[in-house]
Amino acid sequence: MRRLNTQIPPLKTHRLLLRPYQEEDLTDLFTFCCHPQVGPAAGWIPHENISKSKQVLVSFISQGEVWAVEEIKSKQVVGSIGLHQDKARAVGKEFVLSMGYVLSPAVWGMGYATEGARRVLRYIFSEMENPPELVSVAHYDFNDRSRRVIEKCGFKFEGVIRKAAIVPEHGLCDSWKYSMTQREWHQTVVQEGTFLKD
Ligand SMILES: CC(C)(COP(=O)(O)OP(=O)(O)OC[C@H]1O[C@@H](n2cnc3c(N)ncnc32)[C@H](O)[C@@H]1OP(=O)(O)O)[C@@H](O)C(=O)NCCC(=O)NCCS
Repeated sequence: MRRLNTQIPPLKTHRLLLRPYQEEDLTDLFTFCCHPQVGPAAGWIPHENISKSKQVLVSFISQGEVWAVEEIKSKQVVGSIGLHQDKARAVGKEFVLSMGYVLSPAVWGMGYATEGARRVLRYIFSEMENPPELVSVAHYDFNDRSRRVIEKCGFKFEGVIRKAAIVPEHGLCDSWKYSMTQREWHQTVVQEGTFLKD
């Protein structure tokens, strides 16, 4: 089975450097992971203390599935983008990867999530040696910001899993599912030249 562990290379965009996490990122990671608007929107509880962030950072470093999103101008880590197994699909990582992202509220609305997610899609479908068949992504019903990021990346809407999860601060939520196949990437995104310049 494909292992992502050694496979997340540094990726650059105009304003961002996506790179593997390192121990020095702990303070930056805690800064956005403790924010009450960040974790719950992605389905997890805000970090109550820096030890929780340390635990998460250690797993990010050892698993190698999550990029630190470094803002080039400030050199600060302002978020994460991860690629994981999609547990809702009965296939392994060699066929389907699921993308997730969070950013510090200090940089919301600047287009960073879209810029980073598009770069990761380009890496997956145009640069990975054995790309997966499909990349999935999802957002909870209340998360219009994430919905816009997904739409701007060109994902196809699949449907809604109603009452999919109990989300911290939000209760029982529907999950909106989207995906993009290799073929869709090449046909729709690359041929239309939608975001090749990122
Ligand atoms: C979701 C998230 C990553 C988006 O990051 P971002 O860098 O602000 O995203 P972008 O700037 O690329 O795009 C945001 C879009 O949402 C729109 N938006 C902002 N506030 C909005 C609101 N209240 N309602 C609807 N849309 C909104 C923006 O206008 C923009 O769309 P546009 O380009 O069409 O104008 C960020 O809000 C975040 O980290 N949220 C908490 C964690 C989270 O939700 N993660 C995703 C889990 S699925």
